[in-house]
Amino acid sequence: MKKFKTGGITFLQEIGSPDQRSVSKPDTFVIVKTDAMIDFYRHLTQYSPKTIMEIGMYEGGSLVWYDKLYKPSKLVGLDLRRKPIVALEEYRADKPHIATYYGRYQDKEGTRMAARQNFPDGIDLVVDDASHLYEQTKMTFKMLFPMVRAGGHYVIENWTWSHRPAYQNTDSIWADLPAMSNLVLELVIMASQSPVIESIHVDRGLVCVRKGRGVFKEEMFDLSGCLRGKSLTVL
Ligand SMILES: C[S@@+](CC[C@H](N)C(=O)[O-])C[C@H]1O[C@@H](n2cnc3c(N)ncnc32)[C@H](O)[C@@H]1O
Repeated sequence: MKKFKTGGITFLQEIGSPDQRSVSKPDTFVIVKTDAMIDFYRHLTQYSPKTIMEIGMYEGGSLVWYDKLYKPSKLVGLDLRRKPIVALEEYRADKPHIATYYGRYQDKEGTRMAARQNFPDGIDLVVDDASHLYEQTKMTFKMLFPMVRAGGHYVIENWTWSHRPAYQNTDSIWADLPAMSNLVLELVIMASQSPVIESIHVDRGLVCVRKGRGVFKEEMFDLSGCLRGKSLTVL
């Protein structure tokens, strides 16, 4: 298993099956990120994100890593898990700039409320590493992208699951659920229509939308006016 150190904390990169992962400890946190993802987030340091919201904390490793990497003024994590992450709660005990929300589904109103309460002046970086499902991820984007500042970033991890060999059988997990690639396609087409999306970076691990000028509106997901009367294939 790979590991690295940042700011005195050891991070164990555990990207395998959840039942084989460790539990975070005060000086050693589990982080579910590949080398390429780690490089990507290091690359974002050039934008110095100071207000950060992460959806999907798992064992808290990514949240602690963002704290060490970006030294944010406000850092918020949200997860549906009900049981607090003991090591993370210990870590943030003397750090009032970090807030955690447990027992919250990403696509529910509580996500928007947590963002509004903590980021009255907008968000520099959102990381959605939660359900990886199309509907939930899209709803979360609709709620949080309007709060991202111009020049800020919105990252969605693990959008490629439906194209991997393990998901090709009709009896595989999520076989009946729409692929996340639908959302990526929608965002790419939306970028052709409005400067509110300045650019989109896509790689095998994640997609990152950079906010541009103007106001994002949910209706922008209605792409019917720019598809020449054709419809998008649902993957
Ligand atoms: C891949 S893990 C997050 C890994 C973590 N960001 C890291 O890099 O170490 C996904 C997390 O999302 C949470 N999650 C899954 N579905 C969710 C949903 N619908 N709403 C909120 N959290 C969800 C899970 O409980 C889990 O903790």
